[in-house]
Amino acid sequence: MLYTMRKATLLISILAFGAFGMLADDLSDYQAMMKAAAGANGAANGAVAGGDVAAVAAKAKDAAAAFDQMTAFWKAKGKDDAVKFSMSASEALKAAASATSIDDQKAALAKVRPTCGGCHMVYRDGSKFKGM
Ligand code: HEC
Repeated sequence: MLYTMRKATLLISILAFGAFGMLADDLSDYQAMMKAAAGANGAANGAVAGGDVAAVAAKAKDAAAAFDQMTAFWKAKGKDDAVKFSMSASEALKAAASATSIDDQKAALAKVRPTCGGCHMVYRDGSKFKGM
């Protein structure tokens, strides 16, 4: 009887914890991906100004990889809209990475920006998650 009760209590605390949503580890993992993505995206845009196609491509590729990790994160959380935003960011960055002229890279990078704001509006509160 006591054993059953303990089991029930344990189950309830697990459920309550799950319902709480995001864990502290999720946030620090996510911040690392976000910082990598934002840093590389910024560097890619910076390289556009210098007209360096190879440098833009390398940074865009790094940023795309970080957004791919975020896509997996959001898939695991079942947040389809966030999955879409991070996939769009990754696709635009991959297009920038494979483009062969600065103008085409610039056009591809311009498609990344709206995904930042779109996702932030729903899920970002400064350096924290929102609405979860
Ligand atoms: C799929 C959702 C999503 C997309 C797309 C996205 N972000 Fe974020 N971003 C977040 C969330 C959620 C946070 C809050 C958690 C955090 O700080 O990492 C955040 C936080 C940030 C931070 C603060 C990081 C920190 O913790 O110091 C920066 C900078 C940032 N985003 C830049 C960008 C830029 C630039 C882009 C587009 C190139 C972008 N983000 C695209 C979801 C997204």
